[in-house]
Amino acid sequence: MKPDDIDLINSASEIRKNARAPYSHFKVGAALLAADGRVFTGVNVESSSYGLTICAERIALGKALSEGADKFSKIAIVVDSKKLVPPCGACRQLLYDYAPELEVIISNGKGQSKKYKLIELFPEPFGMSFL
Ligand code: THU
Repeated sequence: MKPDDIDLINSASEIRKNARAPYSHFKVGAALLAADGRVFTGVNVESSSYGLTICAERIALGKALSEGADKFSKIAIVVDSKKLVPPCGACRQLLYDYAPELEVIISNGKGQSKKYKLIELFPEPFGMSFL
């Protein structure tokens, strides 16, 4: 059985504990659902050279692609925060490149969540069709 939105949020919330965020202390967890039913999780991994930090969403996507998954239906992103936290611009671009139809669920892991279509968050995208 494929995970529903709550299952995906729970996976993102659970993996978030592994976030490596010693600089920002802003821990992010992500769980990406592939069309074949597999769930790929990710956390943010920060660097002492701050710009080398990798977001949770891109770790999840990189894990998924490297394991051979190639179609994705939704991603849950969890941050323990008063405000619901949407994905950064870089992640929106990379998610669009590999999953233009993606649904993006953002959650604070405490019962509040909101679901968007990626294209709502990333209108007028740059992409392969321009190359
Ligand atoms: N971060 C993510 O993991 N995903 C996002 O979409 C936004 C930002 C991380 C990067 C950095 O480790 C911390 O959150 C603060 O920017």
